[in-house]
Amino acid sequence: MNKILLLGPPGAGKGTQADLICKSLAIPKISTGDMLRSAIASGSELGKKVTDIMNSGALVSDQIIIELILDRISQPDCTQGFLFDGGIRTVGQADLCIENNIEFSHVIEIKVEDNVIVDRMSGRRVHPGSGRNYHLIYQPPKNEGIDDITGEPLIQRDDDMPETVMHRLEVYQNETKPLVAYYKSLESKSSLKYVAVDGSQAVEKVFEDIERSL
Ligand code: AP5
Repeated sequence: MNKILLLGPPGAGKGTQADLICKSLAIPKISTGDMLRSAIASGSELGKKVTDIMNSGALVSDQIIIELILDRISQPDCTQGFLFDGGIRTVGQADLCIENNIEFSHVIEIKVEDNVIVDRMSGRRVHPGSGRNYHLIYQPPKNEGIDDITGEPLIQRDDDMPETVMHRLEVYQNETKPLVAYYKSLESKSSLKYVAVDGSQAVEKVFEDIERSL
């Protein structure tokens, strides 16, 4: 069964590849970022708690994340596998997954240099309802400012401002990058397969590399 975790810095293309992989394997995409953004949009208690944290580019607490994840994967659509679009950002969260018997079949790292990322984030536009991503130049919608599937308007994310992006990259280096060594070391002790792909290639080429590894 495919239980996939995508790892990579903000803007690496995790959301973009997640949509393609999930369509191809018919498994649900689990995006903690999308879940937190919908909590903010709904004005829930959780949303109020995380608004400032997310807008600053910092990470939400491990406890909040593991509760969200456990609730999500207990739903019936996850029985035949799932894909985490990012989702695990700290060694603490990875440990909590193991404690709660969440084991990944594949960890796929999407590698992209920092200079490419700021460019990608400034051009990103998102369909808030589904989390579908576009880019003004590299992946434009059919009609400017409009989601291809629903016809609803696209928005720019609050945390896509250049200063916030720089902070998110720093947080990635300090908090999330250690997961590369963490999951590589699990490869020899479990059935997990670790794969790294070059995320600076065109979207279709990155997807081809991922498909080959699955
Ligand atoms: P989240 O929503 O998960 O954001 P992220 O990991 O920072 O990643 P992004 O969604 O920004 O980028 P992406 O890699 O998905 O790239 P995309 O495909 O959009 O998290 C947001 C926040 O939520 C966090 O900062 C944190 O506060 C909180 N949070 C979430 N999970 C958490 C956790 N587990 N613990 C604690 N806090 C958590 O691509 C980017 C752009 O580039 C798009 O415009 C796209 O069209 C374009 N693009 C993609 N691929 C290519 C390509 N190959 N060539 C050219 N353009 C491309």
